[in-house]
Amino acid sequence: MATILDGRATSAAIKDDLKKKVEAMVAEGKNPPHLVAVMVGNNPASKAYVGNKIKFCGEVGFKSTLLQFETSITEAELLAEVDKLNNDPGVDGYIVQLPLPEHISEDKVIETVHPDKDVDGFHVQNVGKMVAGLPTYLPATPFGITKMMEHYGISASGKNVVVIGRSHIVGRPISILLSQSRPYGNGTVTVCHSRTQNIKEICAEADILVVAIGKANFVTADMVKEGAVVIDVGMNRVEDASRKRGYKLVGDVDYEAVEPKASYITPVPGGVGPMTIAGLMLNTYQSALNRK
Ligand code: GUN
Repeated sequence: MATILDGRATSAAIKDDLKKKVEAMVAEGKNPPHLVAVMVGNNPASKAYVGNKIKFCGEVGFKSTLLQFETSITEAELLAEVDKLNNDPGVDGYIVQLPLPEHISEDKVIETVHPDKDVDGFHVQNVGKMVAGLPTYLPATPFGITKMMEHYGISASGKNVVVIGRSHIVGRPISILLSQSRPYGNGTVTVCHSRTQNIKEICAEADILVVAIGKANFVTADMVKEGAVVIDVGMNRVEDASRKRGYKLVGDVDYEAVEPKASYITPVPGGVGPMTIAGLMLNTYQSALNRK
């Protein structure tokens, strides 16, 4: 029986702490942290994520603003909106929810966000600082995972860590963080991806397995070592006629089969998801502390 890494409870603890800090900030006569979320189009998953971010803001006393644009917005128009946010002293941090429509370059948008307001930690300047081990905004999902590890007293030190997936948002940064000399780090990290051969054998050697590949039930029991820590970043919709909405959310790990072998495991939903939002909120609080 694995210990469940409860993202909701861990996130709630972070929420309580942030709420107190914001109250103290306001008592000193300062404005609360202000997060702006920019959304283009109507992607249902993006809407749900952004809605949760806005809800969390309300719960901890942050100010939040949702800027919603039609899919028809041009790249130049969106870049102009980003520029306005860069120059608005009332905005501490903001995110542009990805994915963006095809006619808009995500890279261009990310590089236009001012690094000081880049609470997603996606700007190349912040990525560079992360790699160099300098203080910066860590990307929300990897940051949330490290907070969860700290909460449960899990460290990668001296362990075999296997990360499946090399995305800029999750796989790449978490692989870097867990190999660095940080309280939760010092792991020996292997990154697996679509060209990896013998992925099953490599995973089966992992003491800590982080899965961020976006394929439902990709990790099966034979890929997991007895006693491994399993962190599932997947969030896949699979058809389920028995549910009112017609689908259920599952991770990248075959939870039922893997759980009995793991020492710790994240559920989906309720594992990494809430920690991602907590990571974003911690960055936004930090951005308010950094106000010039
Ligand atoms: N889309 C999926 N994950 C993220 C994230 O962490 N930030 C933003 N802005 N968009 C996303």
